[in-house]
Amino acid sequence: MALNEGLYKEIMDELAVTKEFIADVAGAFRWDLEQGLRRSEFSSLPMLPSFIGLPEGTEKGEYLALDFGGSNVRASVVRLLGNSSFEVLNWVEKPLVTDEYNLISSSASSTALFDFLAETVGEAVHGNGEREIYLGHTFSFGTEQQDINRAKLIKWAKEIAVPGVEGQDINGLLEAALVRRGFLHIKPVAILNDTVAALLAAAYTYPDTRVGSIYATGYNTCYMEAMPDAGRPACIINMESGAFSKLIPSRWDMELDRNSEQPGRQRLEKMVSGRYIGELFSRLLQAIFDLREKPALSAVDMSSVMEGAAGAAAVVKPIVPEAEVDDIEKIRQLARAITVRSARIVAASWAGTLWHLAGSGRVEPQHIAVDGSVFQHMPYVQESVRRALYEIMGEEAAGLEPVLVKDGSSIGAAIAAAVATCC
Ligand code: BGC
Repeated sequence: MALNEGLYKEIMDELAVTKEFIADVAGAFRWDLEQGLRRSEFSSLPMLPSFIGLPEGTEKGEYLALDFGGSNVRASVVRLLGNSSFEVLNWVEKPLVTDEYNLISSSASSTALFDFLAETVGEAVHGNGEREIYLGHTFSFGTEQQDINRAKLIKWAKEIAVPGVEGQDINGLLEAALVRRGFLHIKPVAILNDTVAALLAAAYTYPDTRVGSIYATGYNTCYMEAMPDAGRPACIINMESGAFSKLIPSRWDMELDRNSEQPGRQRLEKMVSGRYIGELFSRLLQAIFDLREKPALSAVDMSSVMEGAAGAAAVVKPIVPEAEVDDIEKIRQLARAITVRSARIVAASWAGTLWHLAGSGRVEPQHIAVDGSVFQHMPYVQESVRRALYEIMGEEAAGLEPVLVKDGSSIGAAIAAAVATCC
């Protein structure tokens, strides 16, 4: 099981995306965004209106927030103080997958999943008596929205596969589960994507924020569209930017896509997000060492590999016991190359969005709201994003301040519930 030097070099060359490549991606992204706004069939971006605009920072009161977007669910009570600040009062977090149950696989049921969400929400307000409370639901998948409280799931993503939910009104499913569980005093009044929640949360404190992004298990970006085309409200648009498909994938990206739950979909997401970069790393390791089985490594393992020689050896040795120091260093470089490529492509999608917002003028200085474990924790990510923004946009990038939004999904859901019920 010696490291295949030729293949390693070929892969590293393919992963090294150049300045020209990311500038092209940024331009193509803007084109797709603008085509998508006009509902052109040539766009790969769904451009989904969220029926909510930016907050004032003065929204006030106590709201319930539900956050569902992956393998955990969180519910919390959030108090908005009305002066751009907030408090999270109560917090319940539960896994949707354990050794005993799996509520998100293809053999799970919609009723079991939504009953579980309702119970988690009920736990977060436990002690509040029967006092009526409004709920905002951050639901981190692409939905076709008819209003702030009506959204149909288009397609699951992130390998979630519960049958009977696609095409359904998510708030309706939650409302019915709350009734079944006897929580009649909990009123779900708003549903929003996690990117929209991150943007609302950041804009509550930094009013110059126009773009919100999630860079985690999944990847996506939204922005405030002030000049929509006829028939669309001026509101935040969830671009579902993970669906962008005008990128040239490597043969490894294509193989990963072919073996995923939904081949052909979420092409950009499959090159950048936490759910997939660990998978890509595993596939490349298998190929480079010609392993019989594909290792099951995650983005967290990649972080350990990148953190230093000891971390790298701890991950690589159990898979390739005879790996030499030199091989381990090469694997560390491989993890880094996958991560840096991811960050550079993400920056390109932000740049395309900022160019659209700037129209024919300059990109204004502004905060960019970002939430997510990959952005927060993975080595090289933040510096690579920043560097790529400079490479693409030159000195205009100096005014851009990516800001990590903590608890964005909860704060944003509370803000959405406040806006939905305010007047
Ligand atoms: C979903 C998006 C979501 C993103 C980040 C993607 O898989 O399609 O709706 O915003 O993950 O959670």
